[in-house]
Amino acid sequence: MIPESFIEELKYASDIEELVSSYVRLSRKGKNSKGLCPFHSEKTPSFTVYPENGSYYCFGCGAGGDVITFVRQVENLEYVEAVRFLAQKAGMRMPEDVQNDKTAMHRARILEINRETARYYHGVLMDEKGGSTLNYLRERGLTPKTVKRFGLGYAPPGWNSLRDHLRSKGFSNEDILAAAVVSRGRNDSIYDQFRDRVMFPIIDLRGGVIGFGGRVVQGGGPKYLNSPDTMVFKKSRNLFALNYAKATQSDTLLLAEGYMDVIALHQAGFDNAVATLGTSLTAEQSRLIAQYAKKVAIAYDSDTAGQAAAKRALSLFQETDVAVSVLEIKGAKDPDEYIKKFGAQRFQGLIDGGKSAVQYEIDKLKERFDLDSPEGRVAFLQQFCKLMAAIGSDLQREVYISQTARELDVGKEGLKTTVESIRKKRFYAEEKKSSHNLRAFAQDKTGKARSKEGELRGEMAQRAVISMLVRHPDYYKELRGKLTPEDFYNEDLRAIYGAVIHRLSENGSLEPIYLAGQLTPSQMSLYSQLSAAGREIQYYRQQADEYMQAILERKKNKTPDEVAQMERAEYQRYITSLTANKK
Ligand code: CTP
Ligand code: MN
Repeated sequence: MIPESFIEELKYASDIEELVSSYVRLSRKGKNSKGLCPFHSEKTPSFTVYPENGSYYCFGCGAGGDVITFVRQVENLEYVEAVRFLAQKAGMRMPEDVQNDKTAMHRARILEINRETARYYHGVLMDEKGGSTLNYLRERGLTPKTVKRFGLGYAPPGWNSLRDHLRSKGFSNEDILAAAVVSRGRNDSIYDQFRDRVMFPIIDLRGGVIGFGGRVVQGGGPKYLNSPDTMVFKKSRNLFALNYAKATQSDTLLLAEGYMDVIALHQAGFDNAVATLGTSLTAEQSRLIAQYAKKVAIAYDSDTAGQAAAKRALSLFQETDVAVSVLEIKGAKDPDEYIKKFGAQRFQGLIDGGKSAVQYEIDKLKERFDLDSPEGRVAFLQQFCKLMAAIGSDLQREVYISQTARELDVGKEGLKTTVESIRKKRFYAEEKKSSHNLRAFAQDKTGKARSKEGELRGEMAQRAVISMLVRHPDYYKELRGKLTPEDFYNEDLRAIYGAVIHRLSENGSLEPIYLAGQLTPSQMSLYSQLSAAGREIQYYRQQADEYMQAILERKKNKTPDEVAQMERAEYQRYITSLTANKK
């Protein structure tokens, strides 16, 4: 068994688009990519890659799965071999692999150097040399406990204190250069990368120190200096403090700009705060957040740069399933300053009253039009109605329409009629699409069409229940203990449902990569088909019950062949259950 933490790391290290791109030419279509399927011959692309959950599915031949399944299918490998293949690509050492894999050893050594570096800096901060810096942190309101929890440190001003320390521990120049905690100067000498700075270690999800941020105290140079990307550090794929925030009870993550913001937030009890690592948010980071949270509250700086960054972040989150709100940090520069000035309670108030993404969009739209001229108002309202039409909640639509009607002094009813007519048009288009997809549930890719209506209903329900759970894992509550894998009479669907509810019962994510170890490639394909179909369909909680009934009913009505093979006692029970049904 490969541990889940390893699969999780492998997932972040393996980008599905990048992987598939080395076999198939892909082109981006909105959120997803398309290309010609490598598993069957075709002229128009039906092979789709979904970066949001690291999966692919071919609408032509039904091949689908995650990165591991892709490698299995395309390289013809067993599960463990495919995992090894991907791990090697990513420079990761297989968990049970003790053979001297050069890159893996190197990686481990770099992590060791980073850990030693963090320990060293922390030690310096805590002894006399760090006195004034520790004082600085105290003055900024950090408690000793916080300093310890985040492993903060101090890089002394000299040019080679860390270098000499690491050498004394037996690390080679080559390795400490690869860890990027030192730099190479003229005549090949090497010197400390961080000097006279407060040090913020960056920890990954497995607890490894992967890099550093360093802030000036009194010295010169840029305010913050961050480790460059190394073998163990990819800025675009990690978040500061996610190692702590992932364990939060909250379903929301708070996204701030700076290390100090995050630390101040955690200290104030907001243990769900994270930040990017000296760059603006990337698509990978937005997906990472979507993985750990249902909602994200953006708490960027109140200056223009912060607001522009919030806008960019917002559009990245629109590609994911998380609900976004934007906090207005009024009267302070950033969350750290805000908490110091107004306290944690008022900050909680900001979160509760955070500007919703919708309000944010409306405000953004307003800026584009001259609302003082009638033409400008008409143009704005046209766009506004389109925006409203896309909102699913009746209540929200009502609120924003009323508010805007009031603001622009126009009739609310007119706006409502326009919005409704746009919605109707969109609804019919959607409905056509989804009834097409529902039919897809009934079709078995292996060609075994079910003839009788009850069969068809049962078959559809078995498929639909899985799609539904992928889309709404919380509907599992409706089925828990009532619909078991044994109730599924299609063998592949039974295996998939079993794997799915096992994950759900352990609160695990349903991303395909986590199921790849239990399911065969063809079951993974089916799972991807069901996930893809589920994306297009609107579900309601009651459907969980309907599907369950359909499956249980079909199970009761055996085919004549099945009846012929029954044991006597089973046959008796069957007959009794049928007559009981008739009443
Ligand atoms: N940053 C950076 N390089 C800089 C300035 C900023 O990488 N020269 C990044 C850092 O990750 C920093 C974040 O941008 O944490 C926010 O910058 P800023 O708002 O200037 O700093 P604060 O986090 O507010 O730090 P402080 O409160 O200590 O000034
Ligand atoms: Mn600040």
